[in-house]
Amino acid sequence: MGKIENMRKNKFFLLLVVMAVSVALIASGCRDNGNEKPSDGSLDGTIVEEPSDGSDNQDENKDKEGKKSEEKNRSGEQTSKPPVKDPNAPATGDDKSVRGIPDPIEVRTCDDGDLLVLVNKYYNVSKDYEPSDMVTINNKYGTYTDMRMKSVAYEAYKELYSDAFDLGYELKLCSTMRSYDTQKMLYTNYINSYGFKNAALSSAYPGRSEHHTGLAIDVTSKSMGWGLKTDFADFEDGKWINDHCHEYGFIIRYPKGKTDITGYKYEPWHLRYVGVDVATEIMSKAVTLEEYLGKVPSN
Ligand code: DAL
Ligand code: ZN
Repeated sequence: MGKIENMRKNKFFLLLVVMAVSVALIASGCRDNGNEKPSDGSLDGTIVEEPSDGSDNQDENKDKEGKKSEEKNRSGEQTSKPPVKDPNAPATGDDKSVRGIPDPIEVRTCDDGDLLVLVNKYYNVSKDYEPSDMVTINNKYGTYTDMRMKSVAYEAYKELYSDAFDLGYELKLCSTMRSYDTQKMLYTNYINSYGFKNAALSSAYPGRSEHHTGLAIDVTSKSMGWGLKTDFADFEDGKWINDHCHEYGFIIRYPKGKTDITGYKYEPWHLRYVGVDVATEIMSKAVTLEEYLGKVPSN
């Protein structure tokens, strides 16, 4: 009986040891690290570092695979906004098409006074391009102080403003000449907020905005709450600008339905000075500056 009693005691002790070890393993989170996966195939909240391929295109690849970027990543973090990329970084391969940045056909380095200077995704100005004949506008015309633009465009705008004022319209310029660095900041903000693809349709890469020439202006109005709205032309003042801006030498530079040519969405607020004769021809024929100049991108 004593022997049997001892065996029972030993068995009981062994059982206690096995249970204690199991409890310790569970408490420490330790488990089989083999190929075991949760039944739903997900990664049960474990943070797993994505292996880096070391390439420069990782951010763009994520953006390109839009669906993937919307999904929860493995660390449970939402990645709907693509990370910021320095717009000065050289673009290569897919990088370019995703970011809407084609190779330039021409880069102007100085202002020769050409009022029909074409600046778009293909025709660029250099970082140090300085427009000539610039003036600082009277603060009453702008939404902030010390705004600058080309004098010929300013003189024309003052006429437009005055006639609009007589009709009861209250206008202000919310953007005139923009330097390379200012454009870079705006473009980067667009990327931050909307991603590369959307930024490419609304904001020019630095050196590719015609605001850099001093000949482009963004017009806002009291009726738009001093903002910029794509239905500006549905407002009385926006319609008047659309119908009469050519009489002052301006065109609606990014018209409706011409995105494939201009590269940008409709911007009823963005006027470009080209002189009365050219503006009248462009607006009456409903063409873009690219079409007028015979420089439509082949894409
Ligand atoms: N919004 C226009 C395209 C620009 O950024 O110049
Ligand atoms: Zn503009």
